[in-house]
This record gives sequence, C-alpha cells and structure tokens, in this order.
Amino acid sequence: MHLDERRRLAYLDAIGIDVWLPRAAAGTPLEEAVADASPGVAVAAMDWQALRACVAECRLCELANTRTQTVFGVGSPEARWMIVGEAPGAEEDRRGEPFVGRAGKLLDEMLRAVGESRQSVYIANTLKCRPPNNRDPRAEESAACRPYLERQIELVKPAVILAVGRVAAQNLLGSDLPVGRLRGRRHELDGTPLVVTYHPAYLLRSPAQKRKVWSDLCLARTVGREAAA
Ligand code: URA
Repeated sequence: MHLDERRRLAYLDAIGIDVWLPRAAAGTPLEEAVADASPGVAVAAMDWQALRACVAECRLCELANTRTQTVFGVGSPEARWMIVGEAPGAEEDRRGEPFVGRAGKLLDEMLRAVGESRQSVYIANTLKCRPPNNRDPRAEESAACRPYLERQIELVKPAVILAVGRVAAQNLLGSDLPVGRLRGRRHELDGTPLVVTYHPAYLLRSPAQKRKVWSDLCLARTVGREAAA
C-alpha cells in the first residue's frame, strides 16, 4: 500500500473512524498493512518501553520531517498529577524533554507552590514533535498523536490531569471554549478528573493572571486528593 494511503488510514483510525475493507482483503497483505498502519490498536496495549520506542520512530505526520527529535514525556510513572501541555518548542525539540525553556521554569515554580516537582508529576504534551515556528498543531497532527498521550495517561493513572493552555485543554476536552471559560472547574476525561489553567508562556506575558492560576492549582490539588482518597 502506498505510504500516503497507510497514513490516511492511520489518521482515520486515530480519530476513531472505522475503515471497512473489501471481504477479499481479509488475510491479505492489504489487511496486514492496515493493521500496522493503525497506531490506536497497538499503542493501547504497549508498556512504557514499547510506547517510548514507538514514539521515537513515529512518522505518522509531517512533523517527523522537521523535528530534531521526539519529546516523549518526563517524570514519575506513578505520579498523582499529570501535566499536559501543547507541543515541544525550540528548546524542548533540542533537548528532548518537555517544558525546559522559559515557560518550563515557570511551570516548575507553579508545581513547587503546590508541593510538587518535575520528578513527582508526569509531564507530557498533546504533540510529541515540534510544529515549525511553534505554529498551532493541525487537526491531523493532534489526531495522529492522540493515542500516544492516551496510553501515557492510562499507564500513569493520575489522580488529576492539569491541562495547561488552550490547545491542550481544547484538545483533551473536545471543546472550542477559551481557557477563561474552561478553567476554575472540574472536568473529567474518561473518568479522570481534569482541571484547566493558563499556559505558563501566557503567564510570562500576563503575570496578572497568576492569581487565577494559583486558584486552579489549589482546585487541582483538592480534586486530586478527593480522587486518591
Ligand atoms: N510549551 C508546551 O506546551 N510544551 C512544552 O513542552 C514547552 C512549551
């Protein structure tokens, strides 16, 4: 099967659309090709090692052509808090770790304020590759990458997910509301409590919002404690 066709099938699978194949295709190379072009199926059963290797090799979208390396995630696999950001920036792309630039330093401070740290939480992004010039992720990129994040969440089983920024919040919740409307309340993602707050990069530009972020962090702490109790 042509690579573009495999990629298209993978996208359709990632966004949950069933692909029907002609009966004659059962057991043929075409069916096998579809099976290995369907990341959602295999990824959902992977352990950490397999998942990390799969992400490192991923070429499901065009970001594979421009990345320096994939940025998988960092922190404790048994974390109570899972932080989900948007996508790697330039520094993250260079170092292979999420939130290591200026915004990352502020995220570290935010975590410290609630008694957590980069080591105690798990940090990941909706996209594992940097979009060129830090543009917004495209729908097909988010769809292709989604099974990886879903598997990370399943493996960590956090007591609470903190979605930082519009892209992560909208992507995880399937919403088009702005952060200002999504923050300040408890959401749920497949049974896991989820709290939305502003992205630390936005906070660097708008420090007046720090008070709201503090209140979101306190909400996440309460919600996480309730879930763990
Ligand atoms: N912004 C994000 O959303 N994620 C990163 O890893 C870095 C900056």
